[in-house]
Amino acid sequence: MINQSKQNGSANSPDVKKFFDKEWELYKRVIKLNYMSHKEVLEILRKFFRSVPSPTFSVLELGCGDASLLSSALQGTQIGTYCGVDISPHALELADENIRLLHSNNRFVEGDLLEEVGKFEAEFDVIVAGYSFHHLMIEEKGQFFKECRAVLKSRGTLIIFDVVCTPGENRNDYIKRFSRICMQEWNQLTNEELLRICDHVKNSDYPETVETYKQLAEENGFQRTQKLFHDKHNLYGVFSFTI
Ligand SMILES: C[S@@+](CC[C@H](N)C(=O)[O-])C[C@H]1O[C@@H](n2cnc3c(N)ncnc32)[C@H](O)[C@@H]1O
Repeated sequence: MINQSKQNGSANSPDVKKFFDKEWELYKRVIKLNYMSHKEVLEILRKFFRSVPSPTFSVLELGCGDASLLSSALQGTQIGTYCGVDISPHALELADENIRLLHSNNRFVEGDLLEEVGKFEAEFDVIVAGYSFHHLMIEEKGQFFKECRAVLKSRGTLIIFDVVCTPGENRNDYIKRFSRICMQEWNQLTNEELLRICDHVKNSDYPETVETYKQLAEENGFQRTQKLFHDKHNLYGVFSFTI
């Protein structure tokens, strides 16, 4: 069942919603071609979920998209409850189908993740945000850590996989670096598709350095940040934040 909610959370969300409502099939091809390291992320998540100590654990996915990655990562685990939040109704319909493959209690919320996360109790063992966190502005990222801290159980973990700036790199440098790598290496997509992707990144992506992610997490109640993966270009990383 999908609950709808008013959308007035993060500043960037109307543009992001427009892109993902329209371009979901293009994003699926990017995943299939492994241009954003989803294969490596999947292996890390599989390993992580197998190590969660609580039986029938609960997972909140913020910016779940079609939830295809978590649906695979959670197969064969003891998950008890899954809740997915996304701003795109199209993505949520697909998520509903994908998550049905798990034998858990499932719930979906259509709305802005920053607005929705504050409405939960301290009820989740794990929170995952994959390629959604970077759409938030810096002060919203701080708020995100604070809200996530509040809805995690006492030994909970937040996992973020997302785009990152290298040390000393600013947003403009990152956009130039991403666009160059994308144009040179993503050669299974047409020039027109690549331009649409680079345009989205230019309009909607706000990556920070690992140091900034760590600092924001520590300022908002997380004790430990661990980097679990980065790709060969240092464009993407997987991080765990524990209380
Ligand atoms: C790049 S996709 C990632 C989807 C999935 N997590 C994955 O790893 O493949 C980003 C998703 O985050 C959602 N999203 C971005 N900003 C959001 C916001 N402020 N509130 C809710 N969903 C958001 C988009 O609609 C989209 O489905």
